[in-house]
Amino acid sequence: MSRPSPDPQKKLFIKTYGCQMNVYDSERMAESLEGYALTERAEDADMILLNTCHIREKAAEKVYSELGRMKKLKTAKPDLKIGVAGCVAQAEGAEIMRRQPAVDLVVGPQSYHRLPAMEAVLQGGGRALDTDFPEEDKFAHLKGRGQAARRAPAAFLTVQEGCDKFCAFCVVPYTRGAEVSRPAERVLTEARELVERGVREVTLLGQNVNAYHGGMTLAQLVRALAKIDGLERIRYTTSHPNDMDDDLIAAHADTDKLMPYLHLPVQSGSDRILKRMNRSHTAESYLRLIERIRDARPDIVMSGDFIVGFPEETEADFQATLDLVEQIRYGYAYSFKYSTRPGTPAAERPQVDPAEADDRLQRLQALITRQQREIQQSMVGRDLTVLVEKKGREAGQMVGKSEYLHAVHIDDATAAIGDLVPVRITAAMTNSLTARERR
Ligand code: 5AD
Ligand code: SF4
Repeated sequence: MSRPSPDPQKKLFIKTYGCQMNVYDSERMAESLEGYALTERAEDADMILLNTCHIREKAAEKVYSELGRMKKLKTAKPDLKIGVAGCVAQAEGAEIMRRQPAVDLVVGPQSYHRLPAMEAVLQGGGRALDTDFPEEDKFAHLKGRGQAARRAPAAFLTVQEGCDKFCAFCVVPYTRGAEVSRPAERVLTEARELVERGVREVTLLGQNVNAYHGGMTLAQLVRALAKIDGLERIRYTTSHPNDMDDDLIAAHADTDKLMPYLHLPVQSGSDRILKRMNRSHTAESYLRLIERIRDARPDIVMSGDFIVGFPEETEADFQATLDLVEQIRYGYAYSFKYSTRPGTPAAERPQVDPAEADDRLQRLQALITRQQREIQQSMVGRDLTVLVEKKGREAGQMVGKSEYLHAVHIDDATAAIGDLVPVRITAAMTNSLTARERR
């Protein structure tokens, strides 16, 4: 490499906002900045990167207030470099540098493979901005994953990015760009590298992951991954109802390593609102789809996303959402108050009264919480398998995930991190389960 070897003492602090794909991107950015060691403390850093989220207004605002705090660190340490990556970087570009002059670097989600060259510009005293959607595949320009230190047992793996669906509320098609899939061979290589480093579970990531078409369909990719020795569990997220094809549903029945958990956002239970959201499915077609998925895998735990207070949503529309949630019985569901995103079609439509939207959000969350508790409670007494991820707070306790993605605390555990342990669930708490090992 032509890059001069950097000071090995340098420290990098990365703060990640938003979705799992940002978590994955942060790892890849850290790996690409050779010569920097990660630090957990911003005060110790020579370079700070905020990997940002633009999905809702509050997420973007948080970035600017955090940058205000980081600026103070720079006053104390003038050589500190501050960078903004991710979707706010993409959406706001040079505006970030204007609004916060302490920022040295702005890099979008599709150009961060150029980070080492940008860092060199910073070391030369310059500032660097890159929010291109380059032709080249950033992943092909990033270092392989084989060299990294031993990893946690569960890892994310991006297989698809971007979105061509243009839901009327969403910034993703603008910040992440058009839908692109990584070639299956590269995904399989990366998965093998991760497994060599101790990974036993991968979650395949994509904004529309089930639209994957990297020379294979997602179902074919899942089956190919299932053949990798040592890789024990496969998950994927986030899916769109319209891309849930028969073969992928069949994979839930025939591929043991594919975990019985599916995040399938519907956003609303009202056809009138779904139409305005440009979702191109109905509440009824979503319900039928879930029936088919449950026929293939009866114990599957469903998860979803909902937006309340979308422009022109009436109380009757909202009731239709409550009805749909009642029918599905979600193990997990995430509900958000509609947030106006500049440049998206819904931003131009008549907005719902914010107090009314708050009230709906509370009512929906109460229903979701009740369903989640019921499903957690139904796990008590059941025999599950946990992938152990870390030590618990209490002595002798280990923490991991069940096949259904529940966090499980194992008391008096003999298992080590990375073990797949058979357990019996003994109790259900608000956000987790307690278990003992089956020996
Ligand atoms: N306002 C509120 N929630 C939104 N989401 C996406 N865009 C918006 C918005 N403008 C939610 C959707 C999506 C999840 C990731 O975030 O529910 O599925
Ligand atoms: Fe946030 Fe969406 Fe970008 Fe992920 S893709 S970082 S959730 S705006």
